[in-house]
Amino acid sequence: MNPKFLAAQKALDYVIDGTILGLGTGSTTEIFIKLLAERINYFKNLIFTSTSLRTTNFANSLGLTITPFNEIENIDLTIDGADEVDKNLNGIKGGGGALLFEKIIAKNSGKCIWIVDSTKLVDKLGAFPLPVEVVPFAYSSLLRKFELMKLNPKLRLKDDKPFVTDSNNFIIDCKIGIIENPLELELKLKLITGVVEVGLFNNIADKVIVGYQDKVDVLERN
Ligand code: A5P
Repeated sequence: MNPKFLAAQKALDYVIDGTILGLGTGSTTEIFIKLLAERINYFKNLIFTSTSLRTTNFANSLGLTITPFNEIENIDLTIDGADEVDKNLNGIKGGGGALLFEKIIAKNSGKCIWIVDSTKLVDKLGAFPLPVEVVPFAYSSLLRKFELMKLNPKLRLKDDKPFVTDSNNFIIDCKIGIIENPLELELKLKLITGVVEVGLFNNIADKVIVGYQDKVDVLERN
């Protein structure tokens, strides 16, 4: 079986009809959204909000209506993917460029569950380049600053032009190597003027559902 499918399928167990559900971004979340759409006669009274234009378009294409985050008070549960997850259930996200809205939705959710395949599990974060969303006005100076900080920064490109996020910002991917202290790094980067958000998601996931070829594991935050 497809490990991403198994993780997405398991996440259905945590969905309660009549609640407000945050939908993450990425290929694993899209499998989850498809499974939800197939069960919409069962989940009749779910309200959905979305972490990206990509997810909104995908959900709409399957007949699911997305309620804008600004029209919602409290999200009960968010199901999202991740790019890397460590033993403490801290993670790197933003490979798809949706880190800002993903973090906003996550921080406004009663519970957060990540669905990943087992290749995303690491001892320590950092092999996956850390996405940092920045204000376009300042991207050159931030690239120089990150270079001095030895973060191995690279401006994310799409079709030879800077990749633009849903909030019209740019992303600098930092190939740092092992991140010994993700909490410290998140705070350090967020204090830099011009940085909008950092793809370190510390103390956010309550559970991580890990898909393997033939089983799923559910990891819980201690
Ligand atoms: C989007 O910006 C990311 O944070 C995604 O959640 C992450 O890249 C996981 O994507 P996949 O499910 O496609 O691996």
